[in-house]
Amino acid sequence: MQLNQPTITSGNGVRPTHVEVNLDHLCANLKAIKEKTSPAKVMIVIKANAYGHGMDAVARHLAPHTDYIGVAVLEEGILLREMGIRTPILVLGGIWEEQIPDFIKHDLTLTASSVERLQQIDRAAESLRKKAIVHLKIDTGMERIGVHYYSAHTLQEAALGCKHVDVEGIYSHFANSDADDLSHAHLQLARFNEVLSFYEKHSLPTPPLKHMANSGAILQLPEATFDMVRPGILLYGVYPSDEVKRTVSVTPALSWSSKVVYFKVTKPDHPVSYGSTWQSDENVRVVTVPVGYGDGYFRAMSNKAQVIIRGVKVSQVGRICMDQMVVNLGADGTGYNGDEVILIGKQADQQITAEDLARWADTIPYEILTNINTRVPRIYIP
Ligand SMILES: Cc1ncc(COP(=O)(O)O)c(C=O)c1O
Repeated sequence: MQLNQPTITSGNGVRPTHVEVNLDHLCANLKAIKEKTSPAKVMIVIKANAYGHGMDAVARHLAPHTDYIGVAVLEEGILLREMGIRTPILVLGGIWEEQIPDFIKHDLTLTASSVERLQQIDRAAESLRKKAIVHLKIDTGMERIGVHYYSAHTLQEAALGCKHVDVEGIYSHFANSDADDLSHAHLQLARFNEVLSFYEKHSLPTPPLKHMANSGAILQLPEATFDMVRPGILLYGVYPSDEVKRTVSVTPALSWSSKVVYFKVTKPDHPVSYGSTWQSDENVRVVTVPVGYGDGYFRAMSNKAQVIIRGVKVSQVGRICMDQMVVNLGADGTGYNGDEVILIGKQADQQITAEDLARWADTIPYEILTNINTRVPRIYIP
């Protein structure tokens, strides 16, 4: 199975526009998360091409240091198994009945988000003569997949009657754990605890893996740690929101750079790029950078984004095209063909972060990272 496009290389090496992923930073971020949440287990969330960092390399590097892997869809789980990853893998998203046998054959843990789905899993496991490993999904306030907290007992009771299912876990997901106001998160947590009290009330053992904490909760809600935490964005060294308390220190693992491909001087009354949205009022030096929205550098950032060239932050001008964009060096700025251009990352004492791009694109860093197209080669720094 192939989920990613092959990396594009040119005759003499990798495309000058590329992403570098620092594997040491990933490991250090994981270690910092573990220090904060120990003795809980850690499920690394590596869905969506490991938040753009490259799922196969991230999985190979981190699998030996993690207890569980979380992905969104069946295909991501199968890909990891075909790579030889033997770590337990939970598919977090919703599933269809016809997919169930593939889960069981590949030893992937299923999310049971309704009584009907749980019973379908039980029947499929029986006919395959295997036990299906299942985590029950409780909706405590996200209103996405999962059985509502107020009817969770129907799922918990149904699980007791499923003889071919091993209920290894029970979990829920926060809608607002990265907010300044944690009242909704506390409400969700109280609802989840109430759901868990079912086991004590009926003198039943609780499933061994109770889990709820995404990055926001790891940072702000230690009482939501339970048996396992599920960090995504924090693992990659990015904080989930501006207002979240930074109680774990992490370093961005991804940087994104390119090279100047063209230099020219542009005069007043000579607007730049499609739609002629920007022009200079004096002669200025501009450079073309071979990156565009086809690489995941959002067009919405046009006339707002900045890049670093020769250690100086300079402004992108005119509309960002599919494959190219123009940067204004100013009347006296320096920069020329072949210069390195930092889109995300550090140069000299300057830094541009995924959060900066998110602000310019009016989105969140998650969307910036997961949209860096597979046309952009990933290089891994050990
Ligand atoms: C169910 C679930 N758990 C954990 C995560 C990780 O979230 P974060 O990247 O905010 O840590 C996600 C991501 O969306 C998710 O859907």
